[in-house]
Formats: sequence, C-alpha cells, structure tokens
Amino acid sequence: RMREGLDIPDWFGYPEVVAELRRTYPPRAKQGITLFFTGLSGSGKSTIANAVMAKLMERGGRAVTLLDGDIVRKHLSSELGFSKADRDLNIRRIGFVAAEISRNGGVAICAPIAPYASTRRDVRAMVEAVHGGFVEIHVATPIEECERRDRKGLYAKARAGLIKGFTGIDDPYEVPEQPELTLDTLQATPEELAQQVILKLENLGFIN
Ligand code: PPS
Repeated sequence: RMREGLDIPDWFGYPEVVAELRRTYPPRAKQGITLFFTGLSGSGKSTIANAVMAKLMERGGRAVTLLDGDIVRKHLSSELGFSKADRDLNIRRIGFVAAEISRNGGVAICAPIAPYASTRRDVRAMVEAVHGGFVEIHVATPIEECERRDRKGLYAKARAGLIKGFTGIDDPYEVPEQPELTLDTLQATPEELAQQVILKLENLGFIN
C-alpha cells in the first residue's frame, strides 16, 4: 500500500527515514508553489496574476503572496534600473523570496518581465531546490498588441527614443521554450485565462 506523496511503501521499515522522506517530499497538494508569469510590458501579467490570486484565496488552503513587477520594483529593487545586470538581480531577488515562500508551503505569484531564459532557469532551480513546485506561465501577447494597448504610454516613449533599452523595442525578450503554460490574451478574457491557470494547477496535482 502506498501513502500519498512520494511512493514510499509502508513496508519500507525504518519509520524515522520514512517520516523524514515525507517531510522532504510532501505530496504535491501540500507542496509550496511558485507561479512565475513572464511576458512583455503591458502583456497582461499583472491583471491575470491578480485574478489567479483572487481565485486561489477564494479556494483557501495555502497562503498566497503576490510579487508583482511594479511592487517589487518599488519595495525590493528600488535602486535598480533596466540593464541586463540590474534586471537579473531583480529577478534573482524575486526568486529568493519566492523560494522562501515555497519552502514554507505557500504560493508565490511572480509577475515580472523576466526577459532572460537563463535567469528564469536559475529561479526555477532555486525553487525546486527547496522542493517547491515551479510553474512558468508565458503571457504571450505579441508586441504589436502590447504596443497598440500601450496602457502606460511607455512604448510611445521608447519609439520616440525617450526610454532606451525598452524590452521588445531595443532590448531582448527571450521567449520561454518550455513553459508549463502559454496564455493567449487575444483569444480569452483575463478571467478565462486565470481559470486556465487554475486548471493547469489541478492537472499538475498542486490543487485539488
Ligand atoms: S524586469 O526586466 O523583469 O526586471 O522588469 P520588471 O521588474 O518586471 O519591470 C518592468 C516594468 O518597468 C517599466 N519599465 C520598463 N520595462 C521594460 N524595459 C524598460 N526599459 C523599462 N523601463 C521601465 C514598465 O512599466 C514595466 O511594467 P510592466 O508591468 O511589465 O508593463
């Protein structure tokens, strides 16, 4: 007979070893998780992340912490700019906080641009090292659409040369190659996309 979580048979013997293994590898439904949204400026990351947070809080269970790009920039990375080094440091800080939250069984919802694949990979490794689940979600709004919406007027400024090194204009965005989920914001509402995230978490066994 198997117990939930790691398939550790009861006959394994050594109860202390079994107890330790179960502490280290909790069942997925109890594991801490990091939902890592990535996408261009104005792609809809914050909107969807907020909708997912509301849904998770409604369901109860794990404590949910939102680490939105703008919030982090204000409170955790206020001295940083947008060079590659500064963006990487920003993402690593987010990764550190998310890993701590995941370690303690919570849900961290992160929503930065996170333009570099290798940095995203490092954050995944940080979270998985503390046995948290890492779910990368690409908010795949095409740049044309982000620019058309231009909610903050930043694309216009970047095109006018008033902002240098703007992601997608004159700074890179490396498209995620194997995210757990890709969201198409042209075909669905934020509410529907948030529901897709919840379904994915169910399918992965992170929520019941
Ligand atoms: S990063 O690359 O992950 O560190 O970026 P992030 O912390 O998510 O910050 C992105 C928001 O900062 C504003 N902004 C810029 N974005 C991209 N490139 C440049 N040069 C830039 N300068 C300022 C912009 O409003 C981003 O907001 P979002 O919420 O993503 O639209």
